[in-house]
Amino acid sequence: MARDKDIVLEVKNLYKLYGVNRNAAMELLKKGAGRSEVLKQTGVTAAVNNVSFEVERGKIFVLIGLSGSGKSTVVRCINMLQNPTAGSILFEGQDVRKLKKKELLDFRRHKVSMVFQNYGLMSHRDVLGNVAYGLEVRGVPREEREARAHEIIDMVGLSGWEKKNPSELSGGMRQRVGIARALANDPDVLLMDEPFSALDPLVRRDMQFELLTIQRKMNKTILFITHDIDEAFKLGDRIGIMRDGQLIQVGTAEEMTSNPADEYVRDFIDSADRSRVFCAKNVMETPSSLIRVSDGATKALSAMRRSGVSSSYVIDEKMVLVGILTLEDAMKAKAENTPIAQYIIQDIERVAPDALLADIMPQAARTRFPLAVVDSEGHLEGIISKAAVLSSLT
Ligand SMILES: Nc1ncnc2c1ncn2[C@@H]1O[C@H](COP(=O)(O)OP(=O)(O)OP(=O)(O)O)[C@@H](O)[C@H]1O
Ligand SMILES: [Mg+2]
Repeated sequence: MARDKDIVLEVKNLYKLYGVNRNAAMELLKKGAGRSEVLKQTGVTAAVNNVSFEVERGKIFVLIGLSGSGKSTVVRCINMLQNPTAGSILFEGQDVRKLKKKELLDFRRHKVSMVFQNYGLMSHRDVLGNVAYGLEVRGVPREEREARAHEIIDMVGLSGWEKKNPSELSGGMRQRVGIARALANDPDVLLMDEPFSALDPLVRRDMQFELLTIQRKMNKTILFITHDIDEAFKLGDRIGIMRDGQLIQVGTAEEMTSNPADEYVRDFIDSADRSRVFCAKNVMETPSSLIRVSDGATKALSAMRRSGVSSSYVIDEKMVLVGILTLEDAMKAKAENTPIAQYIIQDIERVAPDALLADIMPQAARTRFPLAVVDSEGHLEGIISKAAVLSSLT
């Protein structure tokens, strides 16, 4: 099959069973039995049950699910901290399960790096020593590895803290060290298992922002685990929802929201604070009537009548938004036989396509007209009704 996507990591029909009677359990699973039934009949826990997904290079793929749904097990199978029961894990097309011992070590050192929830820092080393550790193991000379470590420490915002011991840092700072340490190896893929769960909400938001910034700068591929839907929607280019060892739905935040696979997915999505997840471009609509600034009043009036609106957006030849013309003013211009230009209301609320709904709430509250979504050059991309913004709060 022809592929236009650059897939770095592919998990195919992955199973991880815990217990003795695994063959019997596997047979039951393949017949469609669920986790609890298999456990009852065979005593085997199906931690991961036939999971398949692909991660595209340079993207963030988020796995989300309730506690025990199998997220960590999937990640631990990817770097072979756990040996899968069945299935394959392809890294750039090569099956990780078939790597020899030395190749596997190499894979863990160069290709994937893991960031853990509880930092996993070495308490007897300072910040610099922690970040440079992976390079040290690889035999990178001291000067070079420390220079590299300084660079990364700076990137995660910890300049000046190099000589501190991890115990002297706050949780958020420790997690920055954990991320820096993983990045110092310059891995192709970062595996992050609930890295921010232990942080308080404000620090967590900071870290999410930081991670996105770093990811864009370094163009890393990230597999991110969370059980927080807001975090998943904020970070994930694509999201996979797990339940009882199975992956029940994979898609973008918008795809999941508009078409949840089942009640479980819907419950997850309903718990999201949409205003912090969705931005202007996710909810904007195409205006039903557009007028060019060069149009005459008669043409403007008929455009408004046709689409049944009492005001219309006015653009120039390059789609740059000029303002709004009301039906009333268009009628005045017609009666006076003057160009519409002098009647255009230019002082209207404009928002950027990637503005969070939470942040445009005040503008939505005070505006008389729908909000105009314009790009950095002023081109009109869409409009958002007051109702669309305010209803995202509920
Ligand atoms: N070493 C093990 N032996 C037996 N069962 C295990 C083992 N590791 C995990 N499990 C079981 O596998 C299932 C999936 O566990 P996993 O840790 O992958 O879940 P998770 O989605 O990461 O949960 P959490 O959000 O709590 O971290 C659970 O039912 C767990 O009890
Ligand atoms: Mg886990």
